[in-house]
Amino acid sequence: MNNTPRKILVTSALPYANGPIHIGHLVEYIQTDIWVRFQKMRGHQCLYVCADDAHGTPIMLRARQEGITPEQLIARMAEEHQTDFAEFRVGFDNYHSTHSAENQWFANTIYERNRDGGHIAKRTITQAYDPLERMFLPDRFIKGTCPKCGAEEQYGDNCEVCGASYSPAELKNPVSAVSGATPEQRESDHYFFKLADFEAMLKQWTRGGHLQAEVANKLDEWFEAGLQEWDISRDAPYFGFEIPDHPGKYFYVWLDAPIGYMASFKHLCDNTEGLEFNDFWAPDAAAELYHFIGKDIIYFHTLFWPAMLHGAGYRTPDAIFTHGFLTVDGAKMSKSRGTFIKARTYLDHLNPEYLRYYFAAKLGAGVDDIDLNLEDFAQRVNSDLVGKVVNIASRCAGFVSKRFAGRLSETLSEQALFDDFIRAGNRIADHYEKREFSRAVREIMALADRANQYIDEMKPWVVAKQEGEEPALQAICSMGLNLFRLLIGYLRPILPATAEAAERFLGIEPLTWASLTTPLNGHTIGKFKPLMTRVEPKQIEAMLAHSKEDLAAQSPAAEAGPAADSTLAREPIAETVQFDDFTKLDLRVARIAKAEEVDGADKLLRLTLDLDGETRNVFAGIKSAYSPEELEGKLTVMVANLAPRKMRFGVSEGMVLAAGPGGRDLYILNPDEGAQPGMRVK
Ligand code: 2FM
Ligand code: ZN
Repeated sequence: MNNTPRKILVTSALPYANGPIHIGHLVEYIQTDIWVRFQKMRGHQCLYVCADDAHGTPIMLRARQEGITPEQLIARMAEEHQTDFAEFRVGFDNYHSTHSAENQWFANTIYERNRDGGHIAKRTITQAYDPLERMFLPDRFIKGTCPKCGAEEQYGDNCEVCGASYSPAELKNPVSAVSGATPEQRESDHYFFKLADFEAMLKQWTRGGHLQAEVANKLDEWFEAGLQEWDISRDAPYFGFEIPDHPGKYFYVWLDAPIGYMASFKHLCDNTEGLEFNDFWAPDAAAELYHFIGKDIIYFHTLFWPAMLHGAGYRTPDAIFTHGFLTVDGAKMSKSRGTFIKARTYLDHLNPEYLRYYFAAKLGAGVDDIDLNLEDFAQRVNSDLVGKVVNIASRCAGFVSKRFAGRLSETLSEQALFDDFIRAGNRIADHYEKREFSRAVREIMALADRANQYIDEMKPWVVAKQEGEEPALQAICSMGLNLFRLLIGYLRPILPATAEAAERFLGIEPLTWASLTTPLNGHTIGKFKPLMTRVEPKQIEAMLAHSKEDLAAQSPAAEAGPAADSTLAREPIAETVQFDDFTKLDLRVARIAKAEEVDGADKLLRLTLDLDGETRNVFAGIKSAYSPEELEGKLTVMVANLAPRKMRFGVSEGMVLAAGPGGRDLYILNPDEGAQPGMRVK
């Protein structure tokens, strides 16, 4: 074993700021946290940073739907995420946001250096555009009928029914999931990162032992398919960073997301005496850099990320550690079964240490999915942690407290047994280092069995009744508690809260790997309190019921897309048009004769507009701001000569004018008294 202290920087993938942390996410944070805690226990300088991934269309739309700014949304999410992580004892050294000054600086710098190196190309592309919302639509914001199997309500990139992949342009009867409008195809300039420029470097890097074998094989397939240029820009409205030399264009969220690792670390450096950014990120940095990720984001982390870093003159990661997904009771997490469990819901019912232990008991170094079987979960926690580990302390502590005033013997009675445990500790450390946590747990539980066996054989409860056997009783219980201390030390990366409670009970400093070899002799312990209670089936049932309620409590509106975006309020004045162009628009005063909800449309109202003698059917995305009743009878202004537009719900014959950022904050134009339906607006 090499004991030279290492400098290690570790990250977990940044959670999106548009939703809560759930137990699927926790597989990764718990896995990373265990590894980091292990490294810290070994005496290494191991720093763990993370951040909220705060940019992108879904976050912009979610904020809009809630009627708040994206900044307000990400501030609330940042707080919720960090509270959840803290209760699960995920011990970040720094938690930041991609919507930060540091991240903007690094995103600009990495972009500019790659641009100056000739690695950015400009191309005009054609994309789906929502004319009502005046925004380009990401594939998953387009819905329609699958071109292969005819299933309705499928997303723009693939069909959930038949599994076909296609381009949004192939989708039949496409509609914008944001407004319900039929998307148009529009052109726009985009900026691309020329990934193929880095092919040689990437091939060398991916075969350089930085990846798990399964992941390296996947990469070979991607190399064979050819490295494509990567579109790193998005058009306004977009919540993100504007590209420095292209106003109105924004960095795609995935460009600045991994850069958030650097930004968070920089923020830590700026607040930590003696911590130097370049010691970790310069091309020749001696520090180690590791990213823990899920298998769905391999491409970003093993191709784009090292290439971008290299192109900008930074070091590349030492390794990307990829894990699989979480299933619950053998199936994908499901909202209706209650197995889509939010971190908060879990915390309301169960001890986070249980889940940390269960995940550790299941996790290996590969990319296989892991299953949370709830029956097995309760059984393992109860039998391993409560029945084996905690039990050792409760079997010995009472005698030591009552009969010896908490004092342990001066020497160990079974040095060989203790030494065996220490030797096993080397194997356990090796498993931790290699992220083979399930193997570590298996070894530790085998040791727990041996410790219990020792106590069973020595029968302290019998010795306690024998006269003159005081020293023997003290020796047995001291030995038992020393073995318990080693088990707690070995479990400490997995069970930080239990380890802290055990350290308080034993009256010792936080355990380090090095301190474990020195037994507790002639030491006085504190009073024993049960360190962990059993998992009760009713707690699990209550958690599942609560999860189902969470789903029911989500209003349909909260699940639906929004109607407008607050960033539109800051939209610059559009290009000048000539008067003749303006007069082409036939704007008319209209009376809203009827307003109705539209079956299956979350944002639209169907308006029957009276133009004095002529009526028009218009679908307007104003449902978030108005109830039908308050609209009926009102005068408003409409574009009367707009070409009819076929929507999923029928044909829209015109457009009503409204102002405002969107959501609840949307106002139809209402002419002054005296205006009559049918009058032309000039
Ligand atoms: O997939 C996700 O949830 C992303 N938010 C992960 C980003 S990881 C990193 F690149 F920032
Ligand atoms: Zn299909």
